[in-house]
Amino acid sequence: MARLRKVVFPVAGLGTRFLPATKVVAKEMLPVLDRPLIQYAVDEAVDAGADTLVFVTNRYKHSIADYFDSAYELEETLERAGKRELLAMVQGLLPPHVRCVYVTQEQALGLGHAVLCAKTVIGDEPFGIILPDDLIVNDGPGALRQMVARATDGGGVLAVEEVPHAETGKYGIVDVEAGGDRIRHMVEKPKPADAPSNLAVVGRYVLPARIFELLEKTTPGAGGEIQLTDAIAALLAETPVLAHRFEGTRFDCGNKAGMVRATLHFASIDPELRHLVGGIA
Ligand code: UTP
Repeated sequence: MARLRKVVFPVAGLGTRFLPATKVVAKEMLPVLDRPLIQYAVDEAVDAGADTLVFVTNRYKHSIADYFDSAYELEETLERAGKRELLAMVQGLLPPHVRCVYVTQEQALGLGHAVLCAKTVIGDEPFGIILPDDLIVNDGPGALRQMVARATDGGGVLAVEEVPHAETGKYGIVDVEAGGDRIRHMVEKPKPADAPSNLAVVGRYVLPARIFELLEKTTPGAGGEIQLTDAIAALLAETPVLAHRFEGTRFDCGNKAGMVRATLHFASIDPELRHLVGGIA
């Protein structure tokens, strides 16, 4: 694939696992040290070549747009105080060539529905999806960039990771062809006994625009939600979709344990904080 320009961030979920904080703070604005989760996700998208970031939000999540907007009073105050480094930091959250588009998901009808809300902005080109609560860190190219390098015209790529067999019920699980990476089928949250493997899909996708037509045909599944997995299952029958075992470490920041692990990791590589976590992370 020549280039990936657009990345969708579905951030309209309720974030119930972080209540009461998420009663007023969007889950994606929770910080790992001093940077909100959404910043790590956006950096990964820009690293992959994206110049259009599409946030699927809800009416409680204005803070995400505020965060990427310029903050005139703050910037002027920092300027007057001569705090150049801080000023450069708040002005440099996004490179100048990158623009943000915000789309509202009126009701939380599932991840598939959230992605479908981005249809008109994406149009007819391949696009990426990043779920910011899966925070992936690495020294080399970001996970999404690795996936773009493998994507073929019209095809798809899903990031996968081996998980303990007992945990298959938390993930979409894929079955790949013998000796290759092409996905044969995918099951949403199977019990360990029914799981075709322990290869779990994590929050990174590269998909063709065809997925929107398939999402429109997808009927609500478990919990009345429109599942992205169901539409991807239909896509598998039409075009190659690869399972990409990404390089990097994933922190599941959608739950408290993952958030603590991510925080310990970043503290352990911070010169001013590493003494606090010596031997823990
Ligand atoms: P989760 O399953 O993590 O749900 O959604 P959640 O609401 O964010 O968190 P919990 O489980 O209540 O704590 C996976 C991703 O899909 C998005 C979420 O924002 C998250 O990035 N999503 C989910 C939507 O955008 N809309 C939906 O209707 C559902």
